[in-house]
Amino acid sequence: MPHDFMPGLAGVPAAKSAISDVDGVRGVLEYRGIRIEDLCAKSSYLETAYLLLFGHLPSKSQLMKWTEDIIHHRRVKFTILDMMKCLPEHGHPMDALQAAVAALGMFYPGRNVQDVENNYWSAVRLVAKLPTIVAAWARLRRGDEAITPRDDLGVSENFLYMLTESAPHPVWADAFDDCLILHAEHTMNASTFTGMVTASTLADPYTVVASSIGSLKGPLHGGANEEVVQMLKEIGTPDRAKDFVEGRLRDKHKLMGFGHRVYKVKDPRAVILQSICERLFRECGSSPLYQVAQEVERVAGKLLNEKGIYPNVDFYSGIIYDKMGIDVDLFTPLFAMARVSGWLAHWLEQLRENKLFRPDQIYAGEHDRPYIPLDERI
Ligand code: CMC
Repeated sequence: MPHDFMPGLAGVPAAKSAISDVDGVRGVLEYRGIRIEDLCAKSSYLETAYLLLFGHLPSKSQLMKWTEDIIHHRRVKFTILDMMKCLPEHGHPMDALQAAVAALGMFYPGRNVQDVENNYWSAVRLVAKLPTIVAAWARLRRGDEAITPRDDLGVSENFLYMLTESAPHPVWADAFDDCLILHAEHTMNASTFTGMVTASTLADPYTVVASSIGSLKGPLHGGANEEVVQMLKEIGTPDRAKDFVEGRLRDKHKLMGFGHRVYKVKDPRAVILQSICERLFRECGSSPLYQVAQEVERVAGKLLNEKGIYPNVDFYSGIIYDKMGIDVDLFTPLFAMARVSGWLAHWLEQLRENKLFRPDQIYAGEHDRPYIPLDERI
């Protein structure tokens, strides 16, 4: 049956899902029906991950068990760390993360994805271990030893501790936890779709997450947060923003951290991230990048808002991480260690009514071409 071809599958539903919903006109994002504003104000990343994976907020006892399970599985095997030590230190952290996650699957080879118990422990391991791997790589590539997770610290505090070897200021840990909540899930984006295609083959969840990590890396998806900070550094001061933005748009370049396939207003995550910037910088001193970003948003708005192009999630997140002293090339891995809960929620949902993804194509090539022998070709 012929169908209209939609480049990038824009507007084509690829699944029925109850995990999250975006209203791109009103600028609303809900996880399992709960607004992200409420989750950032009242919840933690770990509670949010549970909500995404299991469909409801955990009771006190469920949260206690979930937290214990995550803490218990945070460590990664020394052989994984040894393998990471063999990777080139200048390699991109997303490549190191992808390799380590794929290797994890070799240590936990349960292939039967219909086993509910096995799937629970796979989800626990992946949510628990990704932050440990990201922090380990940040240190190993500098020749330092990885820091063992601390059982008395929450996800965000522990991650910042594993990066720096000191427990973070509570304001930083809170801000970081909100960042993880905001990056945890976002409907049918490229990396989630990638993971679902892999999941539909009944591949194991480590392979599913490794394939999603590969897709997230690109600059049109998660990689945009790195480019935003590089752009703001290049601009340098607010008075140079106007010329820079106008020049880029005149040259038909895209402005990184702007635009979205679904949102036609300011991304609600960007709104919250901007308020986190304000809170963080009030308490811990400002960031020159933030002044530049505000001016970029103002001048770009005059040129792009009428086309429905506004700041997206990647515009303000990097400024927060930069203030925390986190290396720019770790920003996308931070996105991945939050988004793993969303990827796994879609994996579990997909398994309940799995159908192999095998779309069609519109063939645009030739037919019945003669085969020309090698010595007759020009
Ligand atoms: N700067 C300038 N113009 C833009 C931008 C931008 N950031 N984004 C879209 N446009 C223009 C584009 O040039 C085109 O204009 P015209 O119709 O005149 O040719 C029009 O808007 C449609 O653009 P598109 O790329 O076909 O639209 P899309 O729905 O595929 O865009 C997008 C979505 C995210 C790929 C795009 O906005 C973009 O490349 N943004 C910059 C990269 C970025 O910030 N990515 C992060 C996305 S949000 C987080 C995530 O998913 O990880």
